[in-house]
Amino acid sequence: MHVIGGSASTALAERISRELGNAPFGIPFTKRFPDGELYLRVGGRLEGDDVVVVQSTRTDADLIELLLLEDAVREAGARRTFVVVPYLGYARQDRRFFPGEPVSARALSRHVELDADAVVTVDLHSSQTLTHFRKPAFEASGIPALGRLLRERPVDLLVSPDKGGIDRTKRMAQLLDRPWMALDKRRIDSDHVELSLPAGGGPSLAGKAVVLLDDVITTGGTIVEASRLLKRHGVGRVTAACTHGLFLRDAFERIKAVTDEILSTDTLLNPAEKGSVAPDVAQILLREFPA
Ligand code: R5P
Repeated sequence: MHVIGGSASTALAERISRELGNAPFGIPFTKRFPDGELYLRVGGRLEGDDVVVVQSTRTDADLIELLLLEDAVREAGARRTFVVVPYLGYARQDRRFFPGEPVSARALSRHVELDADAVVTVDLHSSQTLTHFRKPAFEASGIPALGRLLRERPVDLLVSPDKGGIDRTKRMAQLLDRPWMALDKRRIDSDHVELSLPAGGGPSLAGKAVVLLDDVITTGGTIVEASRLLKRHGVGRVTAACTHGLFLRDAFERIKAVTDEILSTDTLLNPAEKGSVAPDVAQILLREFPA
């Protein structure tokens, strides 16, 4: 098996290649044409071999690079192409909320899988998105990677900033054998949220080491407000932990100012990327597609 890392996921791709028993790893040669279009070329002897292409699609340019990589790998004669998209962009528009809108998650899934024999992604906004793929598609979880980090830190209580994150928080609470609770969240607009403790106040917070767990941190609005709320109620230490750390604009600095530590996995490049989903992605590939 060969592993090729796109520019959005080079380090993670190399980690995946190590988890696949030191599979040969490479990155494509890339340059821009005068009109800005991307040129790329993959190296290595890929003919007749299985190839894993790893590329998050946070930006539109990342998506174009992934589509070109898949086509290049097919042209190079790969036996099977496994596409790993650690962060699948556009996945949050997973329904048509108003007439005239696309189901963006479906549009992306269908294109990403075009030249793939299977797709592996991590912590989709909604696992329903898996149903849009026509090829075999798998979702790895960021929980084991964050769990490996949290085991080495003080944790008294796991907190989900909203009801939507309850399943994830429960899974982490089970893994670490700790209690959990969920806050009530009301989104005002894409940058602002209002948060409150659950009815009845939940467990005692005074002096506790709390982990705020989310699938994605985008503007940071949710985590900043959640951390402020918890600290107002006497929490001793707040760790913000997420699978996908987008940290738009000054989100990282704003969260840093109100928390004690920020942890994320390596599905996206960011300053909090301390845990890796590589073992979990590799496990799926080895289990589903043995040589
Ligand atoms: C919401 O459904 C998600 O789980 C996150 O809580 C949300 O996307 C975080 O966004 P932000 O960082 O902009 O508050």
